[in-house]
Amino acid sequence: MSVTVCRKAHFNAAHRLCNPGWDDAENEKTFGVCSNPNYHGHNYDLIVKVTGEVNPGTGFVIDMNILKGIIEETIIKRYDHKNLNVDVEDFKNTNPTAENIAVAIWNLLRAKIDENLGLKIVLYETERNFVEYAGE
Ligand code: NI
Repeated sequence: MSVTVCRKAHFNAAHRLCNPGWDDAENEKTFGVCSNPNYHGHNYDLIVKVTGEVNPGTGFVIDMNILKGIIEETIIKRYDHKNLNVDVEDFKNTNPTAENIAVAIWNLLRAKIDENLGLKIVLYETERNFVEYAGE
């Protein structure tokens, strides 16, 4: 019996989408206002989905309190109220698109969650724009 448990989290962060190999005109053409050199912010919503067998002893797939703590320690402390391009090592050489942020988050969480459990994340950059990543 496999069940998916989901935990929602939130962080605010600033970024600029930019390919450093391109000039300003090419960056603006590709990324529009998201390439604003002075950065801009988003309210990111993160949904972490953990799939596995229900433990007959606890009735849990994963203790939600433990999952909450892992997300807080691993992701929120790292990204919340940060400039992703400037403050966060993960994006020193990686464009902080929603896609790349989702992959970085998944990699960080994967290292902290039991390998027998499936992991998928959904990252909302805006209410209408979101990406999913499950490590495939
Ligand atoms: Ni943006």
